[in-house]
Amino acid sequence: MDSIHIQGGVALQGKIRIQGSKNAALPVLAATLLTKETSYICNCPRIADVHRMVSLLKSLGCRVRWMESGVCVNAQNVCRGDMPVEAITGMRSSLCLLGALLGRCGEVVMEYPGGCVIGERPIDLHISALKQMGVDFCEEEGKLRAVTKGLHGADISLDFPSVGATENIILAAVAAEGDTRICGAAMEPEVTTLCEYLECCGAQIDGIGTKTIRIRGGRKLYGANYRVPSDRIVAGTYLFGCIGAGGSVLLESAPWEQMEAVLDIAKKMGGKCTRLREGIYVQAPVRPSPVAHLQTTPYPGFPTDLQSVALAVLTGACGESCVEETIFENRFRIVEPLRKMGADIRLADSKRAYVKGRQRLQGASVEAKELRGGAALVMAGLMAEGRTVVTGCSYINRGYENICRDLRELGARITSV
Ligand code: UD1
Repeated sequence: MDSIHIQGGVALQGKIRIQGSKNAALPVLAATLLTKETSYICNCPRIADVHRMVSLLKSLGCRVRWMESGVCVNAQNVCRGDMPVEAITGMRSSLCLLGALLGRCGEVVMEYPGGCVIGERPIDLHISALKQMGVDFCEEEGKLRAVTKGLHGADISLDFPSVGATENIILAAVAAEGDTRICGAAMEPEVTTLCEYLECCGAQIDGIGTKTIRIRGGRKLYGANYRVPSDRIVAGTYLFGCIGAGGSVLLESAPWEQMEAVLDIAKKMGGKCTRLREGIYVQAPVRPSPVAHLQTTPYPGFPTDLQSVALAVLTGACGESCVEETIFENRFRIVEPLRKMGADIRLADSKRAYVKGRQRLQGASVEAKELRGGAALVMAGLMAEGRTVVTGCSYINRGYENICRDLRELGARITSV
């Protein structure tokens, strides 16, 4: 799929099932390295980032098999932690293999991890925490080499609740000798998911879902069956897509309890969201209302991953909105293509965008530069008058199983070419 063609102006109607969560599945797959027994991870999304993680696990010696609705991993034969460049290029989440591989092999050699082009994304918090747990780092021919003679528990305080660093510390801590306490831990549901999987394997973790997590290290881990929860970001993408394009949709198995801040903004936009047994039912307003101040913050705040989709919707609101990004510095790359579609957006600085809503965007040819921004352009295409072509779709495939199929099921006139 190279490009997505959208004939805009069609209200969305119907229901779709929300796929398993990318950001939950990836660290759980990394965690399978910590046991020699087989784990079955079901509801694993079939997306490019998961396929890459699977090939990375295979290259490390894991036996991996796709089943009907998930993936079976056995890491019995893993003995070294060299990660091939081609498997990790562009995938930030390969970083969570750092903690798991240190726990399993005591040594890791890896390229500096990539990800979306949405900011600098340093790894200083990961490194300093793992150093406190007995890991030495050095740079070798442009690669990062981490080695430990034995991981030990530590009292770690994070200056910022980094999701990736929290996950890495947890992965190393379950394999370490002694207890680890993380103060200032990330509270994102994906951290909770990782802890729950590890508990199913036999780990003992207290304070799950809170700012202070305590891990008792050194317990033997077994294989486990685990179901990845639905993707709150994919659910949020379609929820905002409906508010922007109009109509009413049922998001089957959307995780209501993880989406409080998203539902709050949807309500401010005039959307009516109802919790049903099957998921979330969204009814769009005639035209979205502006949001005086939308700010991204760590969970339970509004997720940075949905900022660009919300921004796209607000270009069609009846009034002026302010969107403030506090997590990543490059998350306004979508502004340029949205302007090409006729949006009136003023960037006050790298953190704040002022959006004057107007009646309709105009279809245009635009290019996705990153995953969530790409999905946001597709939502803008649904809202726009005429035809929109979105290129750069490989970014979108990193996180959405099949965005065209999903939206077609809701009646959108959309095709991949
Ligand atoms: C982040 C998001 C997560 C999202 C994911 C994918 C937050 C808090 N995290 O997780 O919700 O699903 O991207 O887009 O919203 N940082 C450092 N040093 C470090 C690590 C991080 O300074 O060692 C900074 C980053 O530059 C960034 C912030 O901390 O400004 C958040 O980073 P982090 O939570 O680690 O990013 P991800 O784990 O990628």
